[in-house]
Amino acid sequence: MASAELLQQIEDGNLHKRIPISSYQEQIKPIFETLSKIDISIKFDPKKHLAFKSSYLQTIKRTTMEEFGTFAKDQISNIGASEPFPLFTEEAVEIMRAEILREEVFTKWSRVSYNSTTGLDCVIRGYAKYTSPFTYAAWTHPDTVAAISSMAGVELEVIMDYEVAHINIAMKSQDLAKNEKINEKRKLSIGGSKITNDDIPAVVGWHNDSYPFVCVLMLSDTSSMIGGETLVKTGNGEIIPVSGPAKGKATVLQGRKLLHLASIPLGYTERITSVTSYRAKNSMLPETSVLKTVKPECNWGSLYDEFYPEWINYRMNVISDRSLEIKKIFNNALENGEKFDKLKAFELLQDLENYTANTWKEMQVSEAEYATHSKFDKENEN
Ligand SMILES: [Fe+2]
Repeated sequence: MASAELLQQIEDGNLHKRIPISSYQEQIKPIFETLSKIDISIKFDPKKHLAFKSSYLQTIKRTTMEEFGTFAKDQISNIGASEPFPLFTEEAVEIMRAEILREEVFTKWSRVSYNSTTGLDCVIRGYAKYTSPFTYAAWTHPDTVAAISSMAGVELEVIMDYEVAHINIAMKSQDLAKNEKINEKRKLSIGGSKITNDDIPAVVGWHNDSYPFVCVLMLSDTSSMIGGETLVKTGNGEIIPVSGPAKGKATVLQGRKLLHLASIPLGYTERITSVTSYRAKNSMLPETSVLKTVKPECNWGSLYDEFYPEWINYRMNVISDRSLEIKKIFNNALENGEKFDKLKAFELLQDLENYTANTWKEMQVSEAEYATHSKFDKENEN
């Protein structure tokens, strides 16, 4: 059972997982200072800031679910993943960086990443709507959503404001980055680079995402980075790499249905990604979202009093859309003089019931999940 103290900490917004101001000053502020000339009052303009071209649909490789050998009945698109494609311009990326790395955003919204490995790994979640108008507008502009939808092969909708531009920040010292690069070169020169299924060094191990689709945008210079691909496990156990994006580029991934792993990149000093999650815009399409990796009890960047109301809001939108659609289906049948289809009614209503039930069931927290939380705390105390 979770202690009263832990429950209180979670309800208070995981304040105990904030990044110390000294870490901000040592590691983030020097980056922020290089952006001092960037004007963050600029308004997002798709003509100026969106780098996407519809020709990418022909030129950028997209791997289908069949090619991954993972066709699923409840997938929302035949596209599984895309190779990196230009999404935002250099100017747009610099404005996003300048907005996000401000002290007031960082100190209030950042939290230690629950799967932190080395250095300073943190997440910044739920901040965009309140603090970063350019970033928020960039991701939610209809032209941006249309661009990402076209690459994903299905019309998408941002799942909720909380998931607009989720930030992952990983920092390492110059020395560590240099040593990693030397070691990697040595390994390659003695032919020891072959990786097998079980020994892939990962930022996040094999998992499915919580939401149907994800778009990952790179906000850092990756020119001296080695590795860092997303690896997808196919239906027959093969592992297929999907390249990581360079600065300003993005990839889309049907992460709910594809088992994947984020491999550890080497040789970077700063790696910042911005991730937005989606569901199908058509509420009648399968909606398999869960809270596994994002609920406040597991992901410290999700603040209890802000995250859960948004979750309920989006679920109620889907339930409301579905209710109206079900009503329409049977009204139309009546108007057209068709026979009443009771089995179809059972099927649609049971789906709606399951979806409603999953909305509260997903908010339940298992003992194992609380235990992971406590285990992490103990490890970090030592
Ligand atoms: Fe993932």
